[in-house]
Amino acid sequence: MHYFSRKPEGELRIYKFSIHIRGISLKLVSASGVFSARRVDLGTKVLLENMIVKDYWHILDLGCGYGVIGLVAAKLAPHGFVVMTDINKRAIKLARINAKLNKIKNVEIRHGDLYEPVKGEIFDTIISNPPQAAGMRIIKRLIEESVNYLKEGGLLQLVARHNKGGKRMFNLMEQVFEDTYILGGRGGYRVYIARK
Ligand SMILES: C[S@@+](CC[C@H](N)C(=O)[O-])C[C@H]1O[C@@H](n2cnc3c(N)ncnc32)[C@H](O)[C@@H]1O
Repeated sequence: MHYFSRKPEGELRIYKFSIHIRGISLKLVSASGVFSARRVDLGTKVLLENMIVKDYWHILDLGCGYGVIGLVAAKLAPHGFVVMTDINKRAIKLARINAKLNKIKNVEIRHGDLYEPVKGEIFDTIISNPPQAAGMRIIKRLIEESVNYLKEGGLLQLVARHNKGGKRMFNLMEQVFEDTYILGGRGGYRVYIARK
């Protein structure tokens, strides 16, 4: 059973923790069957520390899990709007619980595969700790199809361990976008940016 399955089964374990980052504090509930259920993943933290988010932006958190990236983005862009998506139904339920728990209203949480829940919409930025466990074919689609969901000048922001698929991901970004760079990183993780 992988965390990206549509219907995680088995015993349900609930985890509660909090995060304090960029002047924002969130209470979070997570559960077995979702990615990094017990604590905020280090790659996710590196992305949260570095990600570019501006107020009034229309933001997509693709593969939101229990929701930490999208919810921090929503707090950083109080007049903006964040769409959060995931293929895992339990993740969607948790992300909705976490939005309510933190009284965050400028988000919408949608279930579905890759860009299917946001067909026809365009964003100032697409942010993701991408589902590397789902395989390179999915990562390739995530990068190639992002062009159709970004405004001119819009940013694709991804995190990965540079020596564990990150380098390859960045190469793919370079093939699709002319303007790419590494924003920052630590602990082996890098945040990769591509500008449309
Ligand atoms: C590395 S996890 C990141 C989760 C969360 N954003 C975080 O940082 O804790 C990737 C997420 O992508 C989701 N995912 C996997 N395949 C997907 C797909 N085809 N479409 C949408 N989401 C997918 C997984 O369920 C998982 O929640």
